[in-house]
Amino acid sequence: MRTRVVEDMGKYTGQILEEVYSQEVIEKRVTELAKQISKDYVGKVPILISVLNGSVFFLADLAKRLEIDCEFDFIKVSSYHSGTQSSGTVRLLKDISCIITDRDVIIIEDIIDSGLTARFLKHRILENQPSSVAFASLLLKPECLKLEFSADYVGFEVADRFLVGYGLDLDQKFRNLPSIWAFPVNMNL
Ligand code: IMP
Ligand code: MG
Repeated sequence: MRTRVVEDMGKYTGQILEEVYSQEVIEKRVTELAKQISKDYVGKVPILISVLNGSVFFLADLAKRLEIDCEFDFIKVSSYHSGTQSSGTVRLLKDISCIITDRDVIIIEDIIDSGLTARFLKHRILENQPSSVAFASLLLKPECLKLEFSADYVGFEVADRFLVGYGLDLDQKFRNLPSIWAFPVNMNL
């Protein structure tokens, strides 16, 4: 198990992160998801709507492996004020800019925790009357779901630990790590 020590991050300094998904494992799973999506959308040109900022690595890697044409757009919401605690409310910070009416949309998210953000996003997209909406999340924490939400494509189901890397951040840090790391279990972040 690869580990790394958190440096220079206030109360998180000295915490030991464990690598939970290596670059190779992520690449393999993203390739599988891309194959499945390519099969499901044969003859269609879906618009991939990436949820900023966390899902950009997933979007890029997934899109490169799709065997169908696709378009991109971006949406930004905030559900965390800071640290690891959800504020419980979701705010739209940047809306999509393309027209999605009568188009096939796939929302691309990094992780589903409580499910509040995912539900908000799906409702927001449905207001524009697309032909279809699917939800692809690289990660899902099933134990943390506070509402019924089922994603159409999920990379990995994970235990309730705070994850960083491959787009996921803690207070904007660690996003650029190429693999996914977890803070210790039972650590009071
Ligand atoms: P939810 O609304 O509780 O499902 O939270 C979803 C959002 O919270 C995700 O889009 C992430 O930005 C963030 N989030 C949830 N869990 C984690 C985590 O373990 N690491 C980093 N960000 C997370
Ligand atoms: Mg996110």
